[in-house]
Amino acid sequence: MSDIILGIESSCDDTSAAVVKDGILLSNIIASQKVHESYGGVVPELASRAHIQNIVPVVNEALRQAGIDRQDLSAIAFTRGPGLLGSLLVGTSFAKGLAISLDIPTIDVNHLHAHVLSHFVRQLPEDEVPEFPYMCLLISGGNSQIILVHSPYDMEIIGRTIDDAAGEAFDKCAKVMGLPYPGGPHIDRLATEGDPLKFKFSKPHIPDLDYSFSGLKTSFLYTLRDALKTDPDFIAENMPDLAASLQHTIIEILLHKLSLALEHHPVRHLAIGGGVSANSGVRAAIADFCARHKIRAWIPPRPFTTDNAAMVAIAGYFKYRQKDFASLDLPAYSRVTI
Ligand code: KG4
Repeated sequence: MSDIILGIESSCDDTSAAVVKDGILLSNIIASQKVHESYGGVVPELASRAHIQNIVPVVNEALRQAGIDRQDLSAIAFTRGPGLLGSLLVGTSFAKGLAISLDIPTIDVNHLHAHVLSHFVRQLPEDEVPEFPYMCLLISGGNSQIILVHSPYDMEIIGRTIDDAAGEAFDKCAKVMGLPYPGGPHIDRLATEGDPLKFKFSKPHIPDLDYSFSGLKTSFLYTLRDALKTDPDFIAENMPDLAASLQHTIIEILLHKLSLALEHHPVRHLAIGGGVSANSGVRAAIADFCARHKIRAWIPPRPFTTDNAAMVAIAGYFKYRQKDFASLDLPAYSRVTI
C-alpha cells in the first residue's frame, strides 16, 4: 500500500497544501495573501482570517490535482511552528479535525526542518537528492542559519544570526528606499542594473559562525541620511547602485561565514533554502562558491524557496516512515529553533 501524505502550511501569509505519494510530489497549491501589501508588512490578524478563507479550497484543489481521494490519505502533516500563532492555529486545527474525521494520524513539522528538507521534494523517482551530511544555509525573513544536516531527523545549527535575518536586511533597507514590502525581490530586480561596488557598507566582526545584519542596516541608513542632506534626489538617482551594493554586501557576509563553516565541517554537498534563496545574486554566488570549493550545490527551484506545503509533506513523509506521529493535544508554537 502507498504512503500518501497531505501537507499543510499556514505559518505566515501563504496558505498551502500538497500531496506526496511514496516520496513523490503529486500537487502543491499555494494561495498567497495580497491583503498585507498596503501595510508594509504582514498583519497577523488579517493573515489568520485569510487562512480561514483559503484553507478548504486550497486543500480540495491539492487533492483534486493529485487525483487523490481524501479516504486514501495515510496521514496529515502540518506546520506546527515557528510562525504567527493565529496563522498556525488555522492549519494545525484543520489538520487535526480532518485527521480525526478520517481516523488517520497527524504529523507535526518544524517549519525550519521543512525548508532544510525542501531539496528532497522529488517530482520523479529518479530525481537526485542531497547526500548526508550536508550543510544548509537557511536564509529567510525570520532566520539566517548555517545548519549541518546529519539526517532528516538530526540537524545541528552551527551558526545563526544574533539580530536581524538576511531577509530583514533586504526588507528594511528596501523600505527606506521607498520600495514596497517585501523589498527583497525589488532589490534583486534593481540590482541587476546597478554597480555592486559603488557604495561600501559596514560588515560585522562577530566571532564564530554567527551572523549579524543590524550593523549593515545602520550603515545603509547613515549613507542615505548623509547623502540626502546635500542631494534630496539621492535615492531616486541611485536606486540600482544602492540595491546592487546592498545585495553584494549581504552576499559577502553570507559567504564569509560559509567558508569558515566549511573549514570546520568539510562536507561534499551544500544547500540553500528560505525566501532569500530566491535571490538571483545569492544563487549565482552560491553556485560559484560551490564550484570553487568543489562541492555540490543544491539550489531550490524558486517555487520551493518561499513557504510551501510540498516541503511540509516531504518532512512529514520522513517522520511517517519512523511512525513519529503527533498527539492531538499538541499545541502550535510561535518560536522554536531546529
Ligand atoms: O522564507 P520566507 O518566504 O518567509 C519568512 O521567513 O518570512 O522569506 C521571506 C523573505 C523576505 O524577507 C523577502 O524579502 C525575501 O525572503 N525574499 C528575497 C527574494 N525573494 C524573497 N530576498 C531577496 N531577493 C529575492 N528575490
